[in-house]
Order: sequence, then structure tokens, then C-alpha cells
Amino acid sequence: MVRILAFAGSSRNGSYNRKMIRIAASGAEEAGAEVELIELGDYPMPIMNEDLESAEGMPVKSIEFKQLMLQSDGLLISAPEYNSSITPLLKNVLDWASRSEAADELPLSAYRGKTAVIMSASPGSLGGLRGLVTLRMMLGNLGVTVLPAQRCISAAHEAFSDDGTLMDLKQEKAVKKLGRILTDTIHRLNR
Ligand SMILES: Cc1cc2nc3c(=O)[nH]c(=O)nc-3n(C[C@H](O)[C@H](O)[C@H](O)COP(=O)(O)O)c2cc1C
Repeated sequence: MVRILAFAGSSRNGSYNRKMIRIAASGAEEAGAEVELIELGDYPMPIMNEDLESAEGMPVKSIEFKQLMLQSDGLLISAPEYNSSITPLLKNVLDWASRSEAADELPLSAYRGKTAVIMSASPGSLGGLRGLVTLRMMLGNLGVTVLPAQRCISAAHEAFSDDGTLMDLKQEKAVKKLGRILTDTIHRLNR
């Protein structure tokens, strides 16, 4: 069974990236993956600070999040673009997950060997594309294989129906396919 951890880099009410990740996650499930779809807002943690880490260790919620990463084979991430980069929410969660709790733990254990597919949605005309450049680089440097397939939904404020699906059926199929591509790739790698 392929296990996928899926989340959006926004905790905003009505987040377009949350809508997008739900569609991609359903594509992964249809392809046979076991998907854990989480809300980053359910994992509140302080901004990364090494003094805090030295004094108190990793925050409880960051350990819980990291545990979910360790249990997964792959990551599906829908990342909003803030000023050509990723959101502070997403960066902070990924930074904490890069830390070790025990001296004998291998560095970057939550990331190494993972496969990811990334995507974005934005009201802007580029659909958050520039933020994905940052995210792809960061995940790659952490040891994640980020697959070439990605989608960016521009004019996201006009793209979704009330039920959360994409009005453009071709786009809906393409986003769902991201989940399938991740699932099939991990399946092949695990064979
Ligand atoms: C601080 C800040 C910076 C932003 N910078 C960009 C940007 O560089 N490019 C872009 O397309 N949208 C930008 N936006 C708009 C976001 O794409 C928009 O708020 C989007 O809805 C956020 O994703 P969400 O709907 O999943 O919360 C920015 C928004 C904020 C709050």
C-alpha cells in the first residue's frame, strides 16, 4: 500500500490550495493510495528558534507532524505563493520536521527517500508558479524526489465551484492526475 501525506500550505478559511489538495488527494485514493489529508492549522507550533529548541526540544505538534511524514512514502503539497516564495506556515512546519529529536537519528530522516508532487493555486495570473520553484528546490535539497508533473491554477478565485470541484473539467482531471502520478510512481519505485 502506498501511503501519502497530503496538505495545503494555508490555514485560511476558504483556501484555494485546500480545495486543490482535496482534488489531488482524491486522485491518489482512486489510484489505490492510502491518503492522510491533514490541515496544517491543526499543527500549531512556534516559529523555529534554535534557543527554544535547545531549551525545550521539538514542539509536540512538530513531533506529531514529523511522525506522519516518517510513516508516509510520499507527499502531496499544494502551496500558496507569498511574495514569490512559500508561506511562513509551510516553511515553519517543514523546518521543524527537518530537525532530529535523538542524537542517533539520521539527519533529515523525515525527508530522505520520499517522493513528492507539488501544486499551487492563486488569484494571480501565474497561479503561484514562482513559489513552487522555491518549494521544489527546498524539498530537493532535503532529499525528496520532486516529480516533474505539477499544476498551477491561476485566477483561483473564479476557478472553483461551490462544491469545491474545478469548473474546468479538464483542469479537474489534470489535478486529480497529479495524485495518480505520485501513487503510480511510488508503486513502481517500491516494486
Ligand atoms: C503576504 C502575501 C503575499 C502574497 N504574494 C503573492 C505572490 O507573490 N503571488 C501570488 O500569486 N499571490 C500572492 N498572494 C496572494 C495569495 O496567492 C492569495 O492570498 C491566495 O488566496 C493564498 O492561498 P490560499 O487561498 O490557499 O490561502 C500573496 C498573499 C499574501 C497574504
